[in-house]
Amino acid sequence: MAKRGSWATRLGFYLAAIGSACGLGNLWRFPYIVGENGGGAFVLLYVLLAIVIGLPLLVGELMLGRHTGKSVISALDSIRSEKNYPFYRVGQASLILCVFVLSYYAVISGWVLHFAVQFLATFIGVNETSKLGMLSVLMKNGTLQIGLASVHLLFCMVVVLKGVQEGLERFIGWTMPIFALLLLALMFKSLSLQSSVDALRFLFYPDFSKLKFSSLGAAIGHVLFTLSVGFGTMVTFGSYMRESEHIPTAGFRVTIVDTLISLVAGLLIFPIALQASNIPLTDPWLLFESLPKFLVQMPGGVLFGFAFFVCLYLAALAASIGLLEVIVSNLVDRRRITRKSASGIASLIALLIGVVPAFSGSALRSFKIFGKGMLESLDYLVINWALPIIALLMSFAISRGMKQTEKESLFIHSGNVESASLYKLWKESLHYFTPIVIILALVLQLLSLFLHS
Ligand code: PHE
Repeated sequence: MAKRGSWATRLGFYLAAIGSACGLGNLWRFPYIVGENGGGAFVLLYVLLAIVIGLPLLVGELMLGRHTGKSVISALDSIRSEKNYPFYRVGQASLILCVFVLSYYAVISGWVLHFAVQFLATFIGVNETSKLGMLSVLMKNGTLQIGLASVHLLFCMVVVLKGVQEGLERFIGWTMPIFALLLLALMFKSLSLQSSVDALRFLFYPDFSKLKFSSLGAAIGHVLFTLSVGFGTMVTFGSYMRESEHIPTAGFRVTIVDTLISLVAGLLIFPIALQASNIPLTDPWLLFESLPKFLVQMPGGVLFGFAFFVCLYLAALAASIGLLEVIVSNLVDRRRITRKSASGIASLIALLIGVVPAFSGSALRSFKIFGKGMLESLDYLVINWALPIIALLMSFAISRGMKQTEKESLFIHSGNVESASLYKLWKESLHYFTPIVIILALVLQLLSLFLHS
């Protein structure tokens, strides 16, 4: 079996964990989910849940990985005990979840790639500016979407095959800071629009009457998705962590950076969407409908757009690599097959499932579940239902399976009093609070289905 890799530098872990967390979830998913759930109150709920549910679970997953030095299925296997008996099997479910998410994540990453190429073509003069931002053309072309998704999965495979140090660490290191800078520059530009006051009110004024029964579930699902928790990704990354790293601090930093990026994405998209007035805020294509049109009108916007979509693509690539890495590391650990065959098999399965979301705007347009198209349905079922259930089981498996002394020694920083009391909070949250809130969210979500039918 191949020797297990580890991060060459401390920064390596952060780059990979933040690279996995920050992706299409922040830029593509966050704005339209906020739009669907009425704005400010939902944003508040999201930020609170990121701290009280997302962070404890993230720390738990990192700890499990660090403690066992294994990827999710084997890690849970090695903490199997009478107390967590049926729950320790949740690793298998996480893996299946990764394959499903990778399938439509690859399709949407393909759209980003398409926009990057379109902007470049416009910049060098082989595409007309008026054609930029025409999402409908892409939506109706399922074959093109599958082609783009295949290119994307191929890129992911190349990086994953290079292994932990050469692949992930080197690759993500230089793309993230550039992306953060472009994002901030665009946010300031967008905030200079007249509509920014309305956008700020929409995003930050909490009108609780706008929340729906299903909003709690939507917020929990999104928190887990955006922090890459429940997928086993953070267990794998934790297993590559060095001993000197303090896990709760690492988890806290990742949570803060990821949440800030989502808020920046909101501040960037909403002024543009509100200014254009004809873009529905609840539309899953919100990012792709609003941003390109705005960029085209901006002086130097075509070149900027190219840089932006390249960076967004790299962020999507880093996140997809996190997903593929989980599948590959589990297959390598468990089945003892090579990284090469594991990444080939996983990418192929993801591509096959990806046919459904790719054709959701064309051949499969008339197929709807709860009134949603196939891509949205897949996203809804996976993120709002499967992911919270898996996270619930994961919280049971970790909090009941890992020994008190093991958890304490990983959490408490050499006799530090504060970290001792934080440890208690963390333990209680994972043991009681997280499961109760997730179950409540699922019940409310179920109720909302009956109320709507
Ligand atoms: N967190 C990523 C995003 O927000 C998605 C992701 C989930 C990536 C799980 C890896 C693992 O886009």
